[in-house]
Amino acid sequence: MDMSHYPQLNPPARLLMGPGPINVDPRVLRAMSTQLVGQYDPAMTQYMNEVMELYRALFRTDNPGTLLIDGTSRAGIEAILLSAIRPGDKVLVPVFGRFGHLLCEIARRCRAQVHTIEVPWGDVFTPDQIETAIKTVRPRLLLTVQGDTSTTMLQPLAELGALCRQYGVLFYTDATASFGGNVLETDAWGLDAVSAGMQKCLGGPSGTSPVTLSPQMEAVIRQRKCVEAGIRTAAHLDGDDEMIYSNYFDLGMILDYWGPERLNHHTEATTALFGARECARILLQEGLDNSIARHKQHGDALLKGIQGMGLATFGDVRHKMNNVLGVIIPSGVDGDQVRKLMLADFGIEIGTSFGPLIGKVWRIGTMGYNARKDCVLQTLAALEAVLNHLGFNTIQGAALQAAWDHYTDGSH
Ligand SMILES: Cc1ncc(COP(=O)(O)O)c(C=O)c1O
Repeated sequence: MDMSHYPQLNPPARLLMGPGPINVDPRVLRAMSTQLVGQYDPAMTQYMNEVMELYRALFRTDNPGTLLIDGTSRAGIEAILLSAIRPGDKVLVPVFGRFGHLLCEIARRCRAQVHTIEVPWGDVFTPDQIETAIKTVRPRLLLTVQGDTSTTMLQPLAELGALCRQYGVLFYTDATASFGGNVLETDAWGLDAVSAGMQKCLGGPSGTSPVTLSPQMEAVIRQRKCVEAGIRTAAHLDGDDEMIYSNYFDLGMILDYWGPERLNHHTEATTALFGARECARILLQEGLDNSIARHKQHGDALLKGIQGMGLATFGDVRHKMNNVLGVIIPSGVDGDQVRKLMLADFGIEIGTSFGPLIGKVWRIGTMGYNARKDCVLQTLAALEAVLNHLGFNTIQGAALQAAWDHYTDGSH
């Protein structure tokens, strides 16, 4: 084999300003080059306990069942849905973008009876719309997305927990893209389960998914307890409810692996855990409220810059996520050509969207390590230059000025 075809990794320098992944904080990269220890080394189990404590603070919860699922964010979603939904259970999914459809898709594979309500992409639901659907469907679970990255909208969740309690519904949200950059109050909002991702506001690489489970959700999952044969002892009794139809995503066993029993489930993805631990340390050193404020500040600066350039934004901006903005591609402009030039000549990546928005909307992220003034200004300057180069004339410098004004305004 001619190994000259396989040189050492040396990827081009990029500024990742899409909807995620984004550039990883160098502190996280350093943590991820730490040597391994054995899975049950006291040092390792101590790190695991620390990870649980750090993520409880980030989720704003006292839930003992707060841990990492190994796999990308969708692994966290799948672990919760597979562990909570029994075949035949009714679930209600308010769909306002691609990731609502993903919840339906996973719930269908759990053999749930899936009921949806929909609003046009770019909108979110009112609590009344959700309450009406709960009354009609009477679901066992309400499955929501907090920040649907495909549309850049943030679904308000604060009032839904009380509704779920009233109607006896378990309340889950996918906070993959919003976590750490937008307010999320697991306990105060009455959430029974939340899953998140590393590659957005947490400034890490994808590969682990932090999840938290309320005591009620934990009890529901433990009723489905079933420990695999090779590690089972006489002390392991099955739960009364139907088993969970996955081994890897069986949260019953995973809870016991993270708990005092240290049940031997999977081999820990130690390097990813070290990265996730460092992401949480960085965010909590900054302060969660400060991180959310930083995401809002830079998200707003980008919004002002885009508006200053004369471009229209997508969706109801009153409900936009702090960390990602949808920009309508002006007619006559080839959105992919703009993205190609930004990447080739400026080293900056921005995103396109999915489904009905493909080719119609760019998505620009300001999140995690890249929620910074220099990143916002460089992206605006590059986008303006590329648009003018392609013959779409903007008032040169207006975008930068608008963003600068936002930063220098006394309130910021
Ligand atoms: C809201 C949301 N949910 C789920 C996912 C899937 O996450 P992953 O690709 O990490 O599995 C994403 C990815 O962008 C997302 O934005």
